Amino acid sequence: MSMRWLAKISLAIGCGLAGMGWAGAPAAQSPAKPAPAQAGGKGNMPWMNPALDPDTRADLMIRQMTLDEKIQLVHGIGWGPLQAGAYVPPGDNGGAGFVAGIPRLGLPNLNLADSAVGVRMAAWDSRYATLLPSVLGMASSWDPKLAFVYGAVIGRELRAQGFNMSIGGGVDLIREPRNGRNFEYAGEDPVLAGTMVGKLAMGVQSNHVMGDIKHYVLNDQETGRNTYNAVLSRRAMQETDLLAFQIAIRMAQPAGVMCSYNRVNGDFACENHYTLTDVLKQQWGFKGFVLSDWEATHSTVKAALAGLDMEQPGDQYFGAPLKQAVQDGQVPQARLNDMVHRIVRSMIANGVVDDPPLRSVVNPFQGRNDAQKIEESSMVLLKNQDGILPLNAGDRTIAVIGGKADFGVVSGGGSAQVDAPGGRPGGSEWGVPVYFPSSPLRYIAQQAERQANCGVDAFAGGGVHKVKISFDAGTSPAKAAQAAAQANVAVVFVTQWMSEGMDRPSLSLPDNQDALVEAVAKANPNTVVVLETGGPVTMPWRDQVKGIVEAWYPGIGGGQAIAAALYGKVNAWGKLPVTFPAGEAQLPHPQVSGLTAGAGNNGMNGGGHRKKAKNFTVDYNVEGMAVGYKWFQVKQETPLYPFGFGLSYTRFAYSALDVAPNAQSVSFVVKNTGARGGDEIAEVYATLPAGSGEPFRRLVGFARVSLKPGAGQRLTVPIRPLYLKIFSTEKNDWERLPGTYTFEVGGSSAELPLRTEVQLAAQ
Ligand code: BGC
Repeated sequence: MSMRWLAKISLAIGCGLAGMGWAGAPAAQSPAKPAPAQAGGKGNMPWMNPALDPDTRADLMIRQMTLDEKIQLVHGIGWGPLQAGAYVPPGDNGGAGFVAGIPRLGLPNLNLADSAVGVRMAAWDSRYATLLPSVLGMASSWDPKLAFVYGAVIGRELRAQGFNMSIGGGVDLIREPRNGRNFEYAGEDPVLAGTMVGKLAMGVQSNHVMGDIKHYVLNDQETGRNTYNAVLSRRAMQETDLLAFQIAIRMAQPAGVMCSYNRVNGDFACENHYTLTDVLKQQWGFKGFVLSDWEATHSTVKAALAGLDMEQPGDQYFGAPLKQAVQDGQVPQARLNDMVHRIVRSMIANGVVDDPPLRSVVNPFQGRNDAQKIEESSMVLLKNQDGILPLNAGDRTIAVIGGKADFGVVSGGGSAQVDAPGGRPGGSEWGVPVYFPSSPLRYIAQQAERQANCGVDAFAGGGVHKVKISFDAGTSPAKAAQAAAQANVAVVFVTQWMSEGMDRPSLSLPDNQDALVEAVAKANPNTVVVLETGGPVTMPWRDQVKGIVEAWYPGIGGGQAIAAALYGKVNAWGKLPVTFPAGEAQLPHPQVSGLTAGAGNNGMNGGGHRKKAKNFTVDYNVEGMAVGYKWFQVKQETPLYPFGFGLSYTRFAYSALDVAPNAQSVSFVVKNTGARGGDEIAEVYATLPAGSGEPFRRLVGFARVSLKPGAGQRLTVPIRPLYLKIFSTEKNDWERLPGTYTFEVGGSSAELPLRTEVQLAAQ
């Protein structure tokens, strides 16, 4: 047996415990602003006058541009640093995308960086980037303020690294819980996902860095993503996936919206007139520009007329062919001007012209601090039988098992991969899981030590050693069981690595980890499982363990946050932004569409096979509007854990529901009836009148509140009128139907103690 005794720590129970706070983080960097240009503009550049509005300034500048200069702005320069041997132009900052500026007009280069969960591709240039928890984790906080902080970390670090545009901001809904990119997205509900990602993009843009929302739209699985045809009725699309984008875009007014690889009802997303022009630009009034996902452009004239404004990463369709099409009159000059206007006005509106990024050194401590805070509010406590958690030093011995917990925490792959400090020289390798050095084992040991020694470092101090912490890698269930048998508590870490370019064939944990948990649970009745997963997984061992914590991809402060939560230093648990099914048979698509044995991922298995993908249909009309928890309600299926579910170390009671006139808001009282202070996330659902044809509740509002033991508070949750409407395809508009609306409030979609019905008029 290869058990490593890491710490023998003396016990002193009941001593005053200092919290595990961090040394004060240095103040945020505030880059020096160049003096604004004088009123009237810089010399002969009137568009540099910051007193004018961005649209006027853009038009003034565009009037001076040649046709070639306009064309130059609507495409990238090729794969650049993303592909070995590709051309890297001067001024390229080493991100995924580059668009050459026009120095004679004072227009800077656009340097775009992938930054879904932190800035990608930092290491090759000896830069540091903070790995945040996954977006799905952040969404579990249901805290828009934290979403803003999340985006602000990204914006701050992009700026310090010399980038002026983020290409993160994924808000595709989780229709497919095995989708490899779910960790980049914000869950299955449009109101929650749209709100959280909208705030995230606002945080990015608060740093004078252009934001982006992607992948527009219905890129809800990776299998066959380059060609599959997502089929969904317009009404269902408007009320689900499009609604998430609509909410985020309305909030953040991002510079960019990235159209996706797949087809939508026949047309590729990057040449889809309905989604790009009719909906995004006309219905929602989007003023920014549409950029294609990398090699998701398939035509010149069709794409330009459908609403695509920028081809990435190269110029195959929007370089010389677009110039020719404009000269031939196939693409009107006015349309080219519109593309350029959208790009230039977004650059001006976001400050990247007047206040360009100044390269500086990223502050890793500030980033880690923020990442840890977000993670502490994002983990979800799924099970806590017999109050196994929080752990206390007691007279326990602790066996930590699996998940590389002696080293760190897992991160998600693909273009969302952040390079790890001390990781592979030159940067991360596509397809290879990356662990970040934030060891849960180390911080569990530290928490145990502090508890046992009233904050004194037992490693330095001596004393009577009673607490023992061991680590077993978990590669052999039998060996892990032996380790667990010798401890009072076993904490098992299990991981599910996910990445762009893959879907999981099932919801099971990979690498025999279910067997590992089962073996440990058999050996030790006090087993706690910590999950680090990209999305929902099944848990055949659920009834055999006492504690279950979903830590998602925890980010660079993950080890600290997990330990703090396990020891009750924080009581700020999140709630699930996605349903955890009991098994694949409950899903609208029991198998991932198009993912067949032997076919790899149907043409999208990492790079290299893009062109070989088969064309097939993903029929989202199966579930239609009933995405996630709505499907489970309609089908009367009981999931493993429902949407919105999550426990706490305390309890909350709900009372006194009141719906304001015309349902402008809903108010109610939440009281902490337990013995500890803690956070509650209150959820408000509405069920529409029967005539709507929507026999399920929908989330219409939520609020997160921190309450001391015994404290109660009346919360008022505003309800946006849109959230009570349906999309009428006849009217091509949203409408509120007259009739009986049921409002329900509580702490989980499956447990809603408050309920009332109100009559509402048409609107
Ligand atoms: C991904 C995008 C990413 C782009 C650039 C594509 O493969 O789908 O999300 O922004 O690459 O790296």
